Amino acid sequence: MTAPALELRDLRKSFGRTEIIRGCTLEVHPGERVAVIGPNGAGKSTLFNLISGRFAPTAGEVRLHGHRIDGRKPFEINRLGLSRSFQITNIFPKLSVFENLRCGVLWSLGYKYTFFRFLADLDDANERAEELMERIHLHRKRDVLAMNLTYAEQRALEVGITIAGGANVILLDEPTAGMSREETRRFIELIKEVTVGKTLLTVEHDMGVVFGLADKIAVVVYGEIIAYDTPENVRANPRVQEAYLGSVVAAQQAGGH
Ligand SMILES: Nc1ncnc2c1ncn2[C@@H]1O[C@H](COP(=O)(O)OP(=O)(O)OP(=O)(O)O)[C@@H](O)[C@H]1O
Ligand SMILES: [Mg+2]
Repeated sequence: MTAPALELRDLRKSFGRTEIIRGCTLEVHPGERVAVIGPNGAGKSTLFNLISGRFAPTAGEVRLHGHRIDGRKPFEINRLGLSRSFQITNIFPKLSVFENLRCGVLWSLGYKYTFFRFLADLDDANERAEELMERIHLHRKRDVLAMNLTYAEQRALEVGITIAGGANVILLDEPTAGMSREETRRFIELIKEVTVGKTLLTVEHDMGVVFGLADKIAVVVYGEIIAYDTPENVRANPRVQEAYLGSVVAAQQAGGH
């Protein structure tokens, strides 16, 4: 059997004396789409920070395709095929769409260049940036500065930068935050398109989005994963309803869905 794309084993993180991540275990198989949900302050972003190497765990393991990555630097983890976006937009405002994407591609190549090697790679990077621009539907905005894009376009650009290096495990932290319903719907379609064949973990608050996107849902409450299952089973899980989904499910039932 192939190793999970991503695996957490009893992962823990303390800040000072407070344990924020309290023993998380999770297996995500290649190609699965997982939504991470949970109340504010539950530890979702911290979990992503541990996986992507921004924080070192206090205890436990993170494995990418079977290999331990906990304690490694973010850029090393990135080169091993894991890429993340942040809860806050993370683009270069004064560069164009194309330049932002090309930076993403070049950065991901990462090794030390000789000048001629760099020129050769620049051609590849240009080509790849053009291709990415089409995939995120921003080719008509090629030379527009990132700061002049709409908010939703900026988020799309950010997703483009996140996938620029060809990572096969993608982490998105609240990619649809601040979007209208219609923008969210379109954005989720985009995410589905650009992550075909990849493994995706995404933090998301909108339950409609979660149930439409995810193969599995991980419910994080107070630093623990209290459920990890299909959307249907998570919806029916009494513990989840009690801790988190109760009001949402009740509202949906009242609405006749
Ligand atoms: N660098 C840090 N130092 C100390 N405490 C931190 C640090 N980062 C996060 N925390 C604390 O860890 C807890 C979890 O925060 P985290 O940002 O992971 O939650 P979250 O689930 O992403 O919440 P939200 O839905 O609001 O984004 C919070 O109590 C937060 O204050
Ligand atoms: Mg967060």
